[in-house]
Amino acid sequence: MKVLGIETSCDETGIAVYDSDAGLLADGLYSQVDIHAKYGGVIPELASRDHIRKTLPLVKQVLAQAGIDQSELDAIAYTSGPGLVGALLVGASIGRALAMGLGIPAIGVHHMEGHLLAPMLEPDPPSFPFVALLVSGGHTQLVRVDGIGKYEMLGESLDDAAGEAFDKVGKMLGLPYPGGPHVAKLALQGESGRFEFPRPMTNRPGLDFSFSGLKTFVRNTIANHTADNGLEEQTAADIAKAFEEAVVGTMAIKCRRAMEHTGLETLIIAGGVSANVQLREVLESTMAKINGRLYYAQFKFCTDNGAMIAYTGCQRLLAGESVDLGIHVQPRWSLETLSAI
Ligand code: KG4
Ligand code: ZN
Repeated sequence: MKVLGIETSCDETGIAVYDSDAGLLADGLYSQVDIHAKYGGVIPELASRDHIRKTLPLVKQVLAQAGIDQSELDAIAYTSGPGLVGALLVGASIGRALAMGLGIPAIGVHHMEGHLLAPMLEPDPPSFPFVALLVSGGHTQLVRVDGIGKYEMLGESLDDAAGEAFDKVGKMLGLPYPGGPHVAKLALQGESGRFEFPRPMTNRPGLDFSFSGLKTFVRNTIANHTADNGLEEQTAADIAKAFEEAVVGTMAIKCRRAMEHTGLETLIIAGGVSANVQLREVLESTMAKINGRLYYAQFKFCTDNGAMIAYTGCQRLLAGESVDLGIHVQPRWSLETLSAI
């Protein structure tokens, strides 16, 4: 089965073709970062308008890359939520219209389920059951995964998502949007140990997260070290380092706790923040200590992409999930409400 995936939930237009026999045939991404960077965050209306401009040309490009004609597609999968409603509607409408024109089914896919299954696209994929740490710009969740659609929420952020915290700290340090990758790059120049930031909610039981206190701690540290001529470059790098260490350290403690709690030995990390090299390294060693194993997607499939949507839609259609002719979007949508396959 060949499935075209369309991702338009936020500020990236991602398109891909996944074949259940041959694997991923092609993928393409258009990032709107340059459009939103000057505002320091995503402007929903501009995002929707740009998805309208980019989706169809990118579909054509990816089909050509895959070496197939649109008539060879068996289904279309589009992101139906969670995300920005206008942006979601663009992908959903185009996906549904294309499917109707081609006489094939169109399936709406949960964006976070897409992230969660992205490591399945790798040559050595994890097998169920496992614990998933989902860390994106909008979500920080620890989930027990017993199969596709079999999700039990173990813990989540009570305030900011991990990616959001990275982005806000990036802004405080005067780095471009989105801050996450820039904070990580600056942290490489930072000296460990100059600043010690708190690891929120680790000294009490439970698997929930909170990053707003850490954010305030960063803001105060920056204020205390900002002189008339601004913040010294090395100090900014040391703060980035301490912040990254605090986030990663907190996640390592919670992940270890989740492995103990579930008795499982496989951990996957997914979503934009799983591209963070420090997080990968620390969790690799955490899992090695308990004779477990860590899995993650290649860098380009950690952040938003069409491949994870094509893959997820394909799995659900192969399992016989029924679809109707509606255009479905759900800006807020809990992972736990999905049906098991
Ligand atoms: O999954 P994603 O592309 O979009 C959402 O579904 O939200 O995640 C984007 C988030 C942004 O907050 C971005 O700053 C963060 O992932 N991110 C990173 C890194 N790369 C992306 N955060 C920390 N380190 C990175 N290397
Ligand atoms: Zn995402």
